[in-house]
Amino acid sequence: MSETPRDDTDRADVIREAAGATPSAGGSDVIAAGAGGSARARTFSAKQVKRARDLLARLYALRRAARFYPSGHPALDQAVDELVGVVAQYHAEGVDVPVTFFEDELLLGEQLLAEDSVLFDQLIRDMTALGIGTLTFHKGLTAEDLRRFVPVIAADPDELVAGGGTEAVVEAVGAPHISVSAVTVVREQPSAEEAKNASKTSYADALDLMRELDRLVRSNQAVSVPRVKSTVRSLIDNVLGNRYAMLELSGLKGFDEYTFYHSVNVAILSIALGSMLSRDYRFLSTLGTGALLHDIGKMTVPLEVLNKPGPLTSEEWALIRQHPVHGAEHAALTPGLDKAAVVIILEHHVRYDLTGYPQTAPPRSQHLVSRLVAVADAYDAMTSRRAYSAARLQDEAMTVLARNAGTALDPRLVRLFIDLMGVYPPRSLVRLGTGEIAVVVSPSAGDPLRPVVRIIAGATGDLAEPIDVDLSAEEAGGRAVERCLDPAGVNIDVADFL
Ligand SMILES: [Fe+2]
Repeated sequence: MSETPRDDTDRADVIREAAGATPSAGGSDVIAAGAGGSARARTFSAKQVKRARDLLARLYALRRAARFYPSGHPALDQAVDELVGVVAQYHAEGVDVPVTFFEDELLLGEQLLAEDSVLFDQLIRDMTALGIGTLTFHKGLTAEDLRRFVPVIAADPDELVAGGGTEAVVEAVGAPHISVSAVTVVREQPSAEEAKNASKTSYADALDLMRELDRLVRSNQAVSVPRVKSTVRSLIDNVLGNRYAMLELSGLKGFDEYTFYHSVNVAILSIALGSMLSRDYRFLSTLGTGALLHDIGKMTVPLEVLNKPGPLTSEEWALIRQHPVHGAEHAALTPGLDKAAVVIILEHHVRYDLTGYPQTAPPRSQHLVSRLVAVADAYDAMTSRRAYSAARLQDEAMTVLARNAGTALDPRLVRLFIDLMGVYPPRSLVRLGTGEIAVVVSPSAGDPLRPVVRIIAGATGDLAEPIDVDLSAEEAGGRAVERCLDPAGVNIDVADFL
């Protein structure tokens, strides 16, 4: 199946197999050769990849010069000559230069330029806005070619659309050694087993990242932004490609590593909730990054305060209340980190009714992405056991969310969250009206009270061969969920049945 990446209805699917990033539920994805794609199969040498930064800097400089100076201006001519000079080095080695801009990543041929994807974020934004997926400088490129191409990269996106589309405009300017094409992705459907394994790997990788971040933040060291980005990308791909496997994993808890599990769960839940509003990659990426890092400010709070079983002193409470500001400061000072994600870190405790913290004067309404994360944060925190509080069962937590709709939480997003998860979310252990015990596999479409369940024990408590039943279907024979159960209370390990 092939698709264009700007089709928001079905993305989940990029470049990463070739790029060597974390696996996704989207299966093995490869870039298909588009126009000028023949050169893309080539592997570039380490030296050529290293030189790409120079190439990108020249390209960015040319775009800026083209926006500021009229044709014939010496500054523009100089920018053209400098870019031709770098490209010529590749051509002297017998290779064309295909640079791909896709979502928030840059590739030279099929090689992901992870660091450069962070450094050249604005260039990627500009090029994708112009509809340039892959830009190829073919052997034989001249300064004249580039001069003819200048109006294209100086244009506003609307002008290119009005001119019949970017590819048509580029062809019309008569620069024979420059081509642009949309990115085409060929996607192989993974088996259910592969998708499940990819989801587990993605979860485990995200958990490892949080452990590493904790170590770095506590020792005041810089966070690796490319690693954060690739982790978030993998979570997004897996949530979009295999939503229920990821929602089920988001029920995992780690008492001793609460903050790490909590951060990963909040990221998955936020991405899943956000994807019901939009599947735009940048939106989900901001959401996932902010959600994953929402509590990094807590990484500077002493553990004995964070995990104190009894009531906090006013000094300790003041320390805790500073974590959004400290976290936002740390994130804002991390070069290359998505600045919009900083807003989430700062605002996640502001509350929908603005009675939370930190307070601003005058009060500013909580941003949509922060409101999304607040719902996910509240749900995961409530369903986790803490040093100072027991875990609530999932259906109780849903009731508490509903009770807080309109005060702490955005009521529309709470409703959407219940649509996403159902009242009995995946991984819940439930007792049915028949007395049977079941594990929830997924919510069923349209009826939050009647999920798809795996019945694991009969009414007499004996362990039967598990069977899956959609409680919203006729086959359920009138079965209905009575309530959630505490797995520890009935000595069942839910993981044994998933
Ligand atoms: Fe927090």
